[in-house]
Amino acid sequence: MYRFFVCALGIAGTVLGQSVDSYISSEGPIAKAGVLANIGPSGSKASGAAAGVVVASPSTSNPDYWYTWTRDSSLVFKSLIDQYTTGIDPTLRTLIDDFVSAEAHIQTVDNPSGGLTSGGLGEPKFNVDETAFTGAWGRPQRDGPALRATALITYGNYLYSSGNTTWVTDTLWPVIENDLGYVVSYWNQTTFDLWEEVSSSSFFTTAVQHRALREGAAFATTIGQTSSVSSYTTQANNLLCFLQSYWNPTGGYITANTGGGRSGKDANTVLASIHTYDPAAGCDAATFQPCSDKALSNLKVYVDSFRSVYSINSGIASNAAVATGRYPEDTYQGGNPWYLTTFAPAEQLYDALNVWAAQGSLNVTSISLPFFQQFSSSVTAGSYAASSTTYTTLTSAIKSFADGFVAINAQYTPSNGGLAEQYSRSNGSPLSAVDLTWSYASAVTAFEARNNTQFAGWGAAGLTVPSTCSTSGGGGGGGGGSTVAVTFNVDATTVYGENIYITGSVAALSSWSTGSALLLSSANYPTWSITVNLPANTAVEYKYIRKNNGAVTWESDPNNSITTPASGSTTENDTWR
Ligand SMILES: *[C@@H]1O[C@H](CO)[C@@H](O)[C@H](O)[C@H]1NC(C)=O
Ligand SMILES: *[C@@H]1O[C@H](CO)[C@@H](O)[C@H](O)[C@H]1NC(C)=O
Ligand SMILES: *[C@@H]1O[C@H](CO)[C@@H](O)[C@H](O)[C@H]1NC(C)=O
Ligand SMILES: *[C@@H]1O[C@H](CO)[C@@H](O)[C@H](O)[C@H]1NC(C)=O
Ligand SMILES: *[C@@H]1O[C@H](CO)[C@@H](O)[C@H](O)[C@H]1NC(C)=O
Ligand SMILES: *[C@@H]1O[C@H](CO)[C@@H](O)[C@H](O)[C@H]1NC(C)=O
Repeated sequence: MYRFFVCALGIAGTVLGQSVDSYISSEGPIAKAGVLANIGPSGSKASGAAAGVVVASPSTSNPDYWYTWTRDSSLVFKSLIDQYTTGIDPTLRTLIDDFVSAEAHIQTVDNPSGGLTSGGLGEPKFNVDETAFTGAWGRPQRDGPALRATALITYGNYLYSSGNTTWVTDTLWPVIENDLGYVVSYWNQTTFDLWEEVSSSSFFTTAVQHRALREGAAFATTIGQTSSVSSYTTQANNLLCFLQSYWNPTGGYITANTGGGRSGKDANTVLASIHTYDPAAGCDAATFQPCSDKALSNLKVYVDSFRSVYSINSGIASNAAVATGRYPEDTYQGGNPWYLTTFAPAEQLYDALNVWAAQGSLNVTSISLPFFQQFSSSVTAGSYAASSTTYTTLTSAIKSFADGFVAINAQYTPSNGGLAEQYSRSNGSPLSAVDLTWSYASAVTAFEARNNTQFAGWGAAGLTVPSTCSTSGGGGGGGGGSTVAVTFNVDATTVYGENIYITGSVAALSSWSTGSALLLSSANYPTWSITVNLPANTAVEYKYIRKNNGAVTWESDPNNSITTPASGSTTENDTWR
């Protein structure tokens, strides 16, 4: 049934490398075709899906994945946009433009999480005809808008630098601005994690939100859309600070979710590292770069947590690759290894090897020592130049370790090369949704990383973690404390098509963003109203703005200001200035 039977025990690195080469040369094109087959309107397995819509899997029952998730779609299109913008595949332009149009529309679809400016961007999935999915679900999931912004910014940077400035500014930027504004407004609220099970704060979500705002600030500056840049940067700094809190120094790993009641060992963390990889950031631990000591320590703890839970891993040496899943306590569809989670450690390690090669050295610290000791029991903390035998010993063993994860997936890939979601923990046969788009995309990106294919970074180099974490737009206070309901009434006459919004100095008022400013109700026109939960006992500044078909008009100076009460609620009565 399987093409590759690779025994990870005692196999020489080069033999393993050759069998992995051979798997990649056959599986690479199958994986790329598998991605494209699941994208409407003309993908061979996506018949009925709208143009540019990524179907998660053609499986329509047990499980039914005939939907489009913002997370999966954005990760998939990020890999296609990387291929297009680096010239690897010049044929993808039309498909990418279809994706932009599809997402621009989906952003406007009212759904159970809200509307465009009232939280609806956090809706995790839609029907493949771009209508809202209204059944019960784990919502919202706040990684989607960040991942979509990252994919679109990659495209925008490429187009803008090739001289296509008008379309980027007029058509692409408003879509990106919606997503960045959402992240600014909602990053400090609880979210369902990427596996749609735990509602708390989630490392993957925080990491990709940080990335989106960081590169969003740079992109907005590049294209001259600067009105919200300072709020992107402020909240990016807040996110970078919050990101550090997931590190568990005693266990030597990143706790994936603040809730959930599990060990917290989770592919969430490895996926975060590879999807926030920046080749220019070296082995920076503040952003958990793939070769950082924290991410390597975390990788070991994550991988080791699966050694004894899957019987297909039994008998494999304690320093060799094994099949891995989402998290060791998983029971979904039997709680099995996943292809995409087993490719993830390989990709992280290939990224690490590429950075060490570029830097001509690697560092072993007290945090990463247990990871490196798997490959040389005598290694000690220190810096090892590429000319040293320690460097050669470690990097060649790590390359074999990385290849081992690909070899495990190869062993359990059926002869037609199809990648389902999972494979059996007891006999390795494929399980759950067939032809999972994200499984194929994870193969594509892992193979590219092994090949040291370089994609653009996002500004992760040289960041400084703030010394104290804040949740506000700077000086507003209110971190994590109680809130009070504040009703804002403003008398404002408007013309047809014009609406009144509010934005202000705290995250709950979108941190001075215009893109994610909050829409007031005109039910008592000409009085416009909204009730917002604001941090208690806090000085808050705000202004009303008018929006008409994208044009923004600010109220005249000065800023309005209030100090919220310590408890209860209050009403502000204003007149548009
Ligand atoms: C810019 O790119 C968009 C998206 O592909 C395209 O529709 C538009 O025609 C391009 N404009 C120019 C001037 O090339
Ligand atoms: C909000 O941010 C603060 C400061 O980083 C953090 O302590 C708190 O856990 C965050 N809450 C959520 C839900 O993100
Ligand atoms: C190793 O550590 C030194 C000193 O902290 C640092 O300058 C260098 O960039 C590090 N190299 C790598 C590959 O992490
Ligand atoms: C690896 O890189 C080479 C050179 O850039 C390219 O020709 C080849 O297609 C790449 N292979 C994969 C699997 O990405
Ligand atoms: C209103 O607040 C913003 C953001 O803090 C600030 O940049 C601006 O100068 C303030 N306006 C006035 C008139 O003080
Ligand atoms: C605003 O108007 C409401 C109802 O007319 C009133 O109860 C409230 O006290 C007013 N708020 C202020 C700050 O004057």
